[in-house]
Amino acid sequence: MLIRILGAAAGGGYPQWNCHCNGCETVRDGTAKPLTQSSIAVQSEEDGSWFLINASPDIRQQIEAMRGEGCFNLHSGNRSLPFAGILLTDAEIDHTTGLILLRESTAPLNIYSTATVKHALTSGYGILSTLQNYCGVNWAPITPGEIIQLTDELEVEAFALSTKVPKYIQSTEVEVWGIGLTIRDTTTNATLTYAPGMGSLNTDLRKRFENSDCILIDGTFWTNDELPKLGIGARTAQQMGHLPLSGDDGTLSQLANITTRKIFVHINNTNPILISNSPERQTVENTGVEIGYDGLTIKL
Ligand code: MLT
Ligand code: MN
Ligand code: ZN
Repeated sequence: MLIRILGAAAGGGYPQWNCHCNGCETVRDGTAKPLTQSSIAVQSEEDGSWFLINASPDIRQQIEAMRGEGCFNLHSGNRSLPFAGILLTDAEIDHTTGLILLRESTAPLNIYSTATVKHALTSGYGILSTLQNYCGVNWAPITPGEIIQLTDELEVEAFALSTKVPKYIQSTEVEVWGIGLTIRDTTTNATLTYAPGMGSLNTDLRKRFENSDCILIDGTFWTNDELPKLGIGARTAQQMGHLPLSGDDGTLSQLANITTRKIFVHINNTNPILISNSPERQTVENTGVEIGYDGLTIKL
């Protein structure tokens, strides 16, 4: 299978339109490269079909970048949709807003999500209900622990990752809102684990990472108090469902003994690892974790 990071930034992108943090300013002065918002795509190489995982508000630009690099068959049908299916790991605005930009599709969108996410996107942030009157939606359930066959070559298994409720939903009930996905190529037996919204790490999760050939994981925040300290948000990283990278219990130290190829994605614009030559970026590179970027392609 082929995996492509379409967007390595978290919600808001890099730079974010209204942000003047150090990181955003380094993009504007040309010393750092911009990043679009969180999404990846996976191709089943046998039949050529692509699956989109999360649909960011930057999807139009991301599809054009794929087209520019020859990802799609140039002669595929007039106005056809380049994705055989779209998988959602949560119902967050940055991971779902791109769906509305696909409304011109001539065929219904094949969308996979948990029932909880479907409900949120129907009655809370009504993207799926809206799309019914445009291209239409064929929805299929994702249930943690169950394997879904995407193509002859690719299968996917979801696992629970976070109980963080989207901000637009008023709910105090504790339930799984964010999932991760392990995608297995049955011809090469290689696996990718994608976990863009990781609230905590436990033994099961570490085992899953160890047993994968590559992991694309939550790199949102460097410290827990990153946004409050900059005076641009009240919530801590953990209150937002993201385990910070630094600190004794942070992602970096918890992943230190895992030898799998590790790549951070969903990186917030305030995270100093995005600044060229920052000590934090050096620390990450020295511990053998890669910092994802738009267009990074991995063959497994
Ligand atoms: C998140 O990843 O925590 C969300 O996308 C943040 C948000 O936009 O509410
Ligand atoms: Mn997000
Ligand atoms: Zn910023």
